[in-house]
Amino acid sequence: MAQFILSSFRGHLTNNATKISFKTSLLRPLLLNNNFSTTTPNNNSIQNITVYGSGLMGAGIVQVAAQNGFKVTMVDIEQAFIEKGKKIIDASLSRIAKKQFKDDENSQKSFIETTWSNIKTETNSEKGAENTDLIIEAIVENLETKQNLFKKLDKISKPNTIFASNTSSLPISEISKITERQDKFAGLHFFNPVPQMKLVEIIKNDQTSEDTYQKLVDVTKRMKKTPVTCKDTPGFIVNRLLVPYLMEAVRLAERGEATTEDIDTAMKLGAGMPMGPFELSDFVGLDTLKSIVDGWRKDGKIDAGLVAPIKKLDDLVKEGKLGRKSGAGFYTY
Ligand code: CAA
Ligand code: NAD
Repeated sequence: MAQFILSSFRGHLTNNATKISFKTSLLRPLLLNNNFSTTTPNNNSIQNITVYGSGLMGAGIVQVAAQNGFKVTMVDIEQAFIEKGKKIIDASLSRIAKKQFKDDENSQKSFIETTWSNIKTETNSEKGAENTDLIIEAIVENLETKQNLFKKLDKISKPNTIFASNTSSLPISEISKITERQDKFAGLHFFNPVPQMKLVEIIKNDQTSEDTYQKLVDVTKRMKKTPVTCKDTPGFIVNRLLVPYLMEAVRLAERGEATTEDIDTAMKLGAGMPMGPFELSDFVGLDTLKSIVDGWRKDGKIDAGLVAPIKKLDDLVKEGKLGRKSGAGFYTY
């Protein structure tokens, strides 16, 4: 604890973006009573979390964990990506602070500073794994890249560190088989935007131990999320239903049966969806969606018609139009 406060203080001296102050970190217990986790963790439960990837999902997971009192390390391969992740967190925290503490600017500031005081950043992946209880991987949706990372982390992490992947579509058993800790490995699937979406899917493979599973249920609840459990099947629950729907919408437009705008309007006003399928695809990231569909097609476990290649999607990704995160996708931002 003392070491973390010290490192937070050092962060204040070296890192303007995080604006961490030693004084405000002492306010934390007070704030915890009002706004954060209500569960008192026991010694055996998870306290320190390391998140690999500071993109859309990684940044969101870091934020929610830190907001709820976990000590979090955010790791990415380059400082520029870390800075992007910090911007995502900053924007989301000020939105929440303004909503939660309406006209009380001091409380807004304390909330933001306290959350940041729980966050460290790191570009050295080995260092990020030191002394952590739980690793959550939220890097690119590519099996080999994820396996390479976990293989490296398996050698250097504490024997009891739990590994979790936020993969949208890859089999947990395939990612975990590269490690010597398959009993301490599971899927922990958050949804975008993480601060707002209440669900987390916990994916058990055949070797995930009951102790690992229970610890992940506990972490999820302490992050104020609702866990559901699913076997290690393609797309788990949500994506197995959602992604084929999104791809059907693209095919419908590609056949010229309706415009993208009208399909979006139809699904919002006729089916009560908060976003139309094209808005949602841009929101998720077209590269991520393409990886999911391509992976399922290769895997062969899902009906071929549902995962048939879609020229429009392939073309947009080739052009670097990945959705909101790149400024253009089906729409321009
Ligand atoms: N951080 C914090 N709060 C956020 C936020 C963020 N990044 N984004 C939105 N919010 C909050 C807002 O503060 C607001 O809160 P209140 O209602 O309490 O005031 C609420 O969300 C609604 O926001 P807005 O009014 O600004 O905008 P909106 O009504 O258009 O909602 C949305 C935005 C929550 C994203 C909504 O459009 C939505 O639910 N969209 C669908 C998202 C979805 O389906 N996600 C799953 C994607 S699939 C996935 O994640 C899995 C995968 O593996 C690919
Ligand atoms: P993203 O492209 O926004 O971010 C990925 C980040 O990972 C990048 O910052 C990249 O630099 C970093 N990275 C790559 N290799 C790394 C490594 N070896 N170590 C550390 N960082 C590394 O992607 P995203 O949308 O945040 O998705 C991340 C994961 O979460 C994917 O597996 C995706 O399928 C899954 N997911 C995405 C969504 C979504 O809506 N986008 C929802 C749920 C789950």
